[in-house]
Amino acid sequence: MHPLVFITGASSGIGQALALRYCQAGWRVALVARRADAIHDWAQSQGLSAGQYSVFAADVSDNASIIGAAEQCLATLGLPEVVIANAGISQGMDSAVRGDLAVLQRVMSTNVMGLAATFHPFIAPMQGQANEADAPAFTLVGIASVAGIRGLPGHAAYCSSKAAVISYCESLRGELRGNKGRKGVRVVTIAPGYVDTPLTRKNKYPMPFLMSPEAFADQAFATIAKGTSYRVIPWPMGIVANLLRLLPNAWFDRLLQNQPRKHRDPT
Ligand SMILES: NC(=O)c1ccc[n+]([C@@H]2O[C@H](COP(=O)([O-])OP(=O)(O)OC[C@H]3O[C@@H](n4cnc5c(N)ncnc54)[C@H](OP(=O)(O)O)[C@@H]3O)[C@@H](O)[C@H]2O)c1
Repeated sequence: MHPLVFITGASSGIGQALALRYCQAGWRVALVARRADAIHDWAQSQGLSAGQYSVFAADVSDNASIIGAAEQCLATLGLPEVVIANAGISQGMDSAVRGDLAVLQRVMSTNVMGLAATFHPFIAPMQGQANEADAPAFTLVGIASVAGIRGLPGHAAYCSSKAAVISYCESLRGELRGNKGRKGVRVVTIAPGYVDTPLTRKNKYPMPFLMSPEAFADQAFATIAKGTSYRVIPWPMGIVANLLRLLPNAWFDRLLQNQPRKHRDPT
């Protein structure tokens, strides 16, 4: 039986590129998004066979919806070796505008709660099977962002959500790691820099080291296979991220003064 990967946010961008990369490697893919039709259209355009992919329409910001999709996947396809919580949204906000509190709520519900609810239904079955003979290395993958390293003006919702993803996955990694000769469940955090997708095409500022979704998916696939605990892709953004983390606040604030802000939709 071919291994199975469960990917949220598979109707576009990074999720779609990851789906293709796994199909190319001979995996079966369980694909999740609200726009199920977009996934079907894309799968047909790629010539994927019916046995290669399955589609689950779900909203990750609604616990019942994403848990229902995961349970359907478990019942019909079995336990995935890899689960990638990739679905996410990015929206600028202005904390002085009351309506933008709803933006913060939406971003948190999708990027943070959505990730936790995606992982949840798979954890107990993965822990249960991890120590069976010939069990695969079960892996949960959180798609974070370099934007989670430091808070950027105008980007409070997204930056704080991705900082939460990084910390959440780190906590989970400690909780699920193997112990005393028993195998655990691996947790891999991937922080993309800039990837050319519908999410970034609205940005009106320079995006250093912008990469194609296909190039990103290639590197992410290798990272997940190795079980690397945390990786920034591409690596030059990893150096930028490390430097940003070390920069004293006064220098960081000065650096960002007068820089263009994340676009916000007027309410
Ligand atoms: N592109 C970048 O440069 C970049 C950088 C750092 C991190 N990331 C992260 O990478 C992930 C993918 O981003 P992308 O660039 O590929 O964006 P994208 O092209 O806009 O795709 C986002 C995907 O998430 C899905 N999604 C959004 N809200 C959802 C919800 N409530 N329930 C289910 N699915 C939902 C969308 O599907 P539906 O609309 O059909 O539901 C879509 O498939 C995100 O977590 C993003 O934060 C991206």
